[in-house]
Amino acid sequence: MSNIAVVGGQWGDEGKGKIVDLLADKFDIVARWQGGPNAGHTVRFEGKVFALHHIPSGILREGVIAVIGSGAVLDPVALLQEIEKLEQEGIKVRGRLRVSHRAHVIFPLHRELDRWAEENPSIVSLGTTRLGIGPAYMTKMARVGVRLVDLGEVETVRAKLQAFLDAGFGELLRRSGHSLPDAQALAEEYHEHGRVLAPFTGDTPLWLTERMKEGARVLFEGAQGAMLDVDHGTYPFVTSSSTVAGGLAPGLGIGPRWLDGVIGVFKAYSTRVGAGPFPTEQRTEAGEILRERGREYGTTTGRPRRCGWFDGVAARHAATINGLDAIAVTLFDVLDAFEEIPVCVAYRYRGMDLPDLPAEPWVIDEVEPTYEVLPGWRHPTSGARRIGDLPAAARRYLDRISSLTGCEVAIVSVGGDREQAILCSDRLWSANMVVPARAGRAAPAGTPVRRADT
Ligand code: GDP
Ligand code: IMO
Ligand code: MG
Repeated sequence: MSNIAVVGGQWGDEGKGKIVDLLADKFDIVARWQGGPNAGHTVRFEGKVFALHHIPSGILREGVIAVIGSGAVLDPVALLQEIEKLEQEGIKVRGRLRVSHRAHVIFPLHRELDRWAEENPSIVSLGTTRLGIGPAYMTKMARVGVRLVDLGEVETVRAKLQAFLDAGFGELLRRSGHSLPDAQALAEEYHEHGRVLAPFTGDTPLWLTERMKEGARVLFEGAQGAMLDVDHGTYPFVTSSSTVAGGLAPGLGIGPRWLDGVIGVFKAYSTRVGAGPFPTEQRTEAGEILRERGREYGTTTGRPRRCGWFDGVAARHAATINGLDAIAVTLFDVLDAFEEIPVCVAYRYRGMDLPDLPAEPWVIDEVEPTYEVLPGWRHPTSGARRIGDLPAAARRYLDRISSLTGCEVAIVSVGGDREQAILCSDRLWSANMVVPARAGRAAPAGTPVRRADT
């Protein structure tokens, strides 16, 4: 038994899709537990590029079953389009995707509320993806949300939509200049989407737990990143779900003990899309170089990403809130161009050293990063496949990131393609485990895996 979570360690877009794709052939199931179409995971191999939004990246590996848990929010129209697009691109999705029927539905009115909140000057603008994520989680928590399972009954959907409108959300829509939707017509339209999605939906907690009991191995795919976590990120400049590894148990409806290890994905530098504090941001030529070399434009919205140096304080926070066992360092090749590479090792605030990430966004906004300047290597790394292929300065840089996060570097990604990676830890890649078992827990017994029937 070895079930591993891959989570973003920064502000999203760390290359989780690439790392999941790299690992997924060692697993039977890849499962997502939170978020929605706000995620944009890019995977490249054999000259093809895939952008995944709802569907876990593991779907791209033959034989792997993809699961979307109850903690996700789903836009049925976008999900159906994504399924169709993947099938057109030669990826079989039918029979390989299982979606929790308890996941909540994103309606067009959620997107309208999202846009209204973003454009309302009296509400803090987050620079959301405007895909209705926050409002969908809002209605879920207000207990007036519609779940996939509810779509089966037109009258249930109509009544829930009416309750949603009557609970004050209708008034918000009216104030934002939108005419109120006709609950009956919307219910009928989404009932039809539910009918088309029905073959994909079911009781995923039960199914997943049974498969794990049989010895199936699960890779848990995070979306967004630690600093966007609703509880532990740079609130309020966050998304509306639990992006940290601990969120996967409630999000998927499985016991927390099924998780054996957590890999945090970190870019070798930092990026952020949207508003919010970002201490190491470089609005300089160096920032431009990072953006252009890393092609830092959003997979979901196309927005240019804000770029800056690696932030060791934020990374340490990410390691703590996720309980990271190991890290994957991505976009490492982007740093090949630099003579010197600053790394933030501490914050200073009004003359004081701050050892940890402050909870107040206005303080994070004001801190001055203390940089350690490491020598660059000015040598192409995209062809490196073993750690020994890297220049000494590049290895020193990785060592510093490892010491700042307190985690072993398990993978270094040196390009967007599947094979452009260095697998650093022998233990990590041994036959029966992907990461070493935690101290005190028996090593996996190497139980033969029975392929889950779908
Ligand atoms: P995710 O949301 O965490 O899956 O990350 P995104 O897919 O949004 O953004 C990461 C981008 O970097 C994608 O375009 C990837 O193809 C690309 N990428 C991933 N790893 C590497 C790498 O090691 N080097 C380079 N140059 N690009 C990479
Ligand atoms: P992946 O999975 C980067 C950001 C948005 C905004 C904030 C809230 O590709 O890493 P939301 O639409 O979720 O309410 O927006 O979160 N954000 C992301 N940034 N990568 C993502 O996903 C993101 N998903 C949301 O830009 O600042
Ligand atoms: Mg992304």
